[in-house]
Amino acid sequence: MCVATGDIMTDDKQQCHVDLEPIGRREIVEPGTTILAATQSSGVELVATCGGMGTCGNCRIRLEKGELTSLTLIETGKLSTAEIGAGYRLACQAEILSDVRIDIPPESLTALQRLQIEGLSVSITPDPLVLPIDLNLPQPTLTDIRSDEARLKASLAEHGFSEIDVSVPVLANGVEKLRETGWSARFGLRQKSTSATHKELIAILPVQSPLLGLAIDIGTTKLAAYLIDLSTGATLVKTGTMNPQIAYGEDVVSRIAYANNNEAGRQILQSRLVKSINSLIRELCSTAHTAPEQIVEVVAVGNTAMHHLFVGLPVRQLGEAPYVATVSDSCELRAREVGLQVSPGAMLYLPPNIAGYVGADHVAMLLASSLGQASRSILALDIGTNTEITLAYGGRLICCSCASGPAFEGAHIRDGMRAVPGAIERVRFANDHFQVHTIGDTLPVGICGSGILDAIAEAFAAGIIDRRGVPRKEHPLIAELNGTVAVRLVPASATKHGRDIIMTRADVNEIQLAKAAIRAGVEILLAESEIDSTDLDEIIVAGAFGTYLNIGSAISSGLLPELPLEQYHQVGNAAGLGAQHLLISRSARASAEKMARTIEYIELTTHASFTDTFTQSLYF
Ligand code: FES
Repeated sequence: MCVATGDIMTDDKQQCHVDLEPIGRREIVEPGTTILAATQSSGVELVATCGGMGTCGNCRIRLEKGELTSLTLIETGKLSTAEIGAGYRLACQAEILSDVRIDIPPESLTALQRLQIEGLSVSITPDPLVLPIDLNLPQPTLTDIRSDEARLKASLAEHGFSEIDVSVPVLANGVEKLRETGWSARFGLRQKSTSATHKELIAILPVQSPLLGLAIDIGTTKLAAYLIDLSTGATLVKTGTMNPQIAYGEDVVSRIAYANNNEAGRQILQSRLVKSINSLIRELCSTAHTAPEQIVEVVAVGNTAMHHLFVGLPVRQLGEAPYVATVSDSCELRAREVGLQVSPGAMLYLPPNIAGYVGADHVAMLLASSLGQASRSILALDIGTNTEITLAYGGRLICCSCASGPAFEGAHIRDGMRAVPGAIERVRFANDHFQVHTIGDTLPVGICGSGILDAIAEAFAAGIIDRRGVPRKEHPLIAELNGTVAVRLVPASATKHGRDIIMTRADVNEIQLAKAAIRAGVEILLAESEIDSTDLDEIIVAGAFGTYLNIGSAISSGLLPELPLEQYHQVGNAAGLGAQHLLISRSARASAEKMARTIEYIELTTHASFTDTFTQSLYF
């Protein structure tokens, strides 16, 4: 059904665009094509156990936007009323009638996206806010008719805890268990910020059961979650998934627009996010053979928009100049207030935001990288759809935010896709042709961010594109696509879907804009500190794209400064690591809050030299 002629797809009036999320793959098909056929044609593998006969019910997808044929009898037999109400369809039954956006749930994909949950290990001494105490309370008798609360407070006072707050939700959840266990229990006591002796009862749990914490990194694209033993600081289990808000916009700006332009848009974005996090909580607890009630403390980090959407704050002002945050100080609220299914008394802590586009996740990343205490000159970048950069030099910390866009996630790239099996992640040019390596070592389907940057760096080095990014028409690997020239990376005979994988001038341009935005940010921070890139001792590169990025390609394309490779350190999900530090350490929270107060933010859009620096940075 795909309208491909020869090696390169051509225009066709009768065609529909199919956006497959959260993969980030776009396919073009004729009307009447089933969604299953469209995914197969794009190289995205859905679970289709019955081969599309409509008997297995495994190919569930959700229509986010656009028009499909009416529900078939097979679908009404396989899908529940609630699923149908939520927009679920069977991919093998539903036919495409218009441009559509399809959300593919993880269980319907044969291979999951590579998730960014890895990073350096927790290496600090635990100093948690919630501490355990095991007590055996006297049972009520006819001569001791004190209330449960009074009995509990008296026993805690005997053990030196005389100033204790006890909330109704904690009692409601815990006193039945106390009776079942003969009045023996482990009590989680949380330090109140008002005084060293004042505490709050957070949880009533089985004797000697671990007090657990949850650290969450809410990325624009991905969610990472870590289950931590608060006493030891050990990471018990970690997991991740795609941010479900992708279905409402691939970047922060489009999410803000969705929240502002749709009735209940903000609530929809929040509830989708919380639902996914609750699902991660269940997965973590199931793997660790524990219960969500054991989670007595939660820390969440995210960029300012994710932070605001998560806790239900307005985001309208983040989309309009001068782009101010609603909240910049750290926040503490009951985790259940945002809908997290953890212990009823558990608190949720969010570290400070620095600015509208430099959020708590960057503070967490800087904390994990110890930039606050750095005596050397260090540049730290967290590369994503928005890139935050901080320079530590001469006792100062200065930061900025760059609108790098989703190109490094494979979006807005003709054959781009996110980092899933089949995505080209490495490209080399040798013996007059491109050699590619894909995630999962399968036949290529498309190209992800690290691959496209490699391809550009190699194409430039081989003289296939010039320093402006313009392809040299005379080169044998240049093909023509509807009047525009493109670099053929992989011939149709070597791809999974039987079509060329190409890189157009527009693709190169998208990457140029992204890399110029980041490089301009780097240069302006260096200029503000009156130093040169050669004065830098170290460059830390964090974030999903930063982890898999080939530093050599980043340097030769001009994205990053030319320094010896050993001065670069790719640290993985440093924001997730920072969230774990904040979870287990009171002093880490104090450091993060102090750092956020002292960091100097530079707004690039109004900076006098931004336009010139950005323009110069466009060249390879
Ligand atoms: S592939 Fe089995 S129901 Fe669709």
